[in-house]
Amino acid sequence: MDASVKALGYVVIETTDPQAWLEFGTRVLGLQAVQEEDRLLMRMDDFVYRLDVRSGSEDGIVAIGWDVGDAATLSELSARLTAAGYAVEQADSAKARERQVDALAIFRDPDDQMDVELYWALRKSNNLFVSPTGANFVTDGVGLGHVFQAVSDEAAYRRLYMDILGFRLSDHIDFPNGGQGVFLHCNSRHHSMAFGQLAGRKLGIGHIMMEVSDLEIVGRAYDKVLDGAAPLFSSLGKHTNDKMTSFYCGSPSAFGIEYGTGGIVIDDDVWRPTRYSEAHYWGHHRSPERIVSESVTPSSSEPALTAGAR
Ligand SMILES: [Fe+2]
Repeated sequence: MDASVKALGYVVIETTDPQAWLEFGTRVLGLQAVQEEDRLLMRMDDFVYRLDVRSGSEDGIVAIGWDVGDAATLSELSARLTAAGYAVEQADSAKARERQVDALAIFRDPDDQMDVELYWALRKSNNLFVSPTGANFVTDGVGLGHVFQAVSDEAAYRRLYMDILGFRLSDHIDFPNGGQGVFLHCNSRHHSMAFGQLAGRKLGIGHIMMEVSDLEIVGRAYDKVLDGAAPLFSSLGKHTNDKMTSFYCGSPSAFGIEYGTGGIVIDDDVWRPTRYSEAHYWGHHRSPERIVSESVTPSSSEPALTAGAR
């Protein structure tokens, strides 16, 4: 397949507490904040933003933006989506200016959880990226990071992300209670999109992963979370499939953030998908509060990849 998505580009977030996002984003994650009148743009590299945080009446993810690289790919992918029955809107110039891209197409996530946007030419800033914590984010050629989404119909998401948008299978992980996680790549990052049917889980993006180049930065962020800067979802641990050493915490908008380092790089010429029976080599223990809250209400935003209720 020729035309395909190239990388995860941006995430648009609505929040009832922009001040909490400012503190969490800068102090814990090490993102650079650029405050505008009605929104908080958060940078992790040369691009003008990676997170676009808007003040609103609800908390959650409004849109995810995928970089498709050029205008020809944008029209080809739009045509494929339309042929598959998706209602695709070609955004007007005002919307493109707002997103700071040359052009974008918008369609609704199959589970109606958010807008999915395809764009090309996200602007780069004239100002140097400076992380307040000294973080160096791994984004060059591999995008913002990855997202994990709890979905109602695995087959529908396979069709969308693999058959239409051109993602390739990285591997599967069996869930302890049945079902599987599906991990897909669109560049050399092990996965940019992952999803699974998770019984009893709230649909939508459970976490966004951000990768930094140095365990030192992960450790310092982890300490801040342990000291109460954000709710800890899972302890430090190492994933089987992408080999990422990471921890999970809650963002001010309830969904999770995975913050890690050391993810592997995929070479499509030699990569062969496999299957894992566990998501972790060690660590990633769910915090006791998370286990309790999940047994009471199916509103968790963290992946059910941790074995059992440990
Ligand atoms: Fe993850």
